Amino acid sequence: MRVRDATPADRAAIFAVHAAAFRTEREAEVAVALDPEASLVAEEDGRVVGHVVLSRLAVEDGYRAVALGPIGVLPEAQGRGLGSALVRAALAAARDAGEDAVVLLGNPAYYGRFGFVAATSVGLPDPFGWRDAFQIVVLGAPPPRGAVPLWPRPFLVAGTPAAAVTKLNEAVNAAVATPAMREELRNRGFVAMGGKPQQLAKWTAEQAPIWGPVLQAAGIKPE
Ligand SMILES: CC(C)(COP(=O)(O)OP(=O)(O)OC[C@H]1O[C@@H](n2cnc3c(N)ncnc32)[C@H](O)[C@@H]1OP(=O)(O)O)[C@@H](O)C(=O)NCCC(=O)NCCS
Repeated sequence: MRVRDATPADRAAIFAVHAAAFRTEREAEVAVALDPEASLVAEEDGRVVGHVVLSRLAVEDGYRAVALGPIGVLPEAQGRGLGSALVRAALAAARDAGEDAVVLLGNPAYYGRFGFVAATSVGLPDPFGWRDAFQIVVLGAPPPRGAVPLWPRPFLVAGTPAAAVTKLNEAVNAAVATPAMREELRNRGFVAMGGKPQQLAKWTAEQAPIWGPVLQAAGIKPE
């Protein structure tokens, strides 16, 4: 087994790894769409059997932090240390790149062994109620208090004509795909992704049952 940097030729294998590991294509789509700081594959006998991504997080004050994930290992290759090798290689890559911290959402029973601790234990707020799933490894400076990772997505008012949705979606995707915009977003700590309205609708439908009760409990209203 070896861990190496992913190449464009690994795209299909990476998608297949996450689709099999998560038993849905949701994480696979994210894994291949991200503009990664690091994208590492675990290879056995020349076959890609695992993959992990590090991507830039939007944090104020120039704080350098990356998110770890998705991470996946083919079901038949799990439990043999490949996932551990990928996490350790990702942490080493983040350290080498001068990142201050690596954050993720995951099971503390797994990630604690690599040094991840509850993000709230270093002063990060937990506005979405992730609790101990929200974890961090601080490699450099401690995070600024109040820093929260963001995943902004554009929405339109209900009832916007389909033709207008398509037109705006194409325009936004075209803008996000330009090198200048990618660079601008990267400098602001964001990762340019883009996508189709159907993907956003599916994602929103999946997220609503999770965050709806959280927002209601906190009394948060759209503005
Ligand atoms: C999580 C994952 C990447 C680990 O890869 P792996 O190659 O199986 O991991 P390793 O062989 O290095 O480690 C195996 C250990 O991790 C534990 N483990 C694996 N997945 C776990 C999980 N979701 N929660 C808690 N522990 C987990 C195993 O029980 C085993 O524990 P042990 O060492 O005490 O026996 C892999 O199981 C996977 O792809 N899972 C499906 C996708 C997923 O859940 N990704 C992570 C989302 S946060």
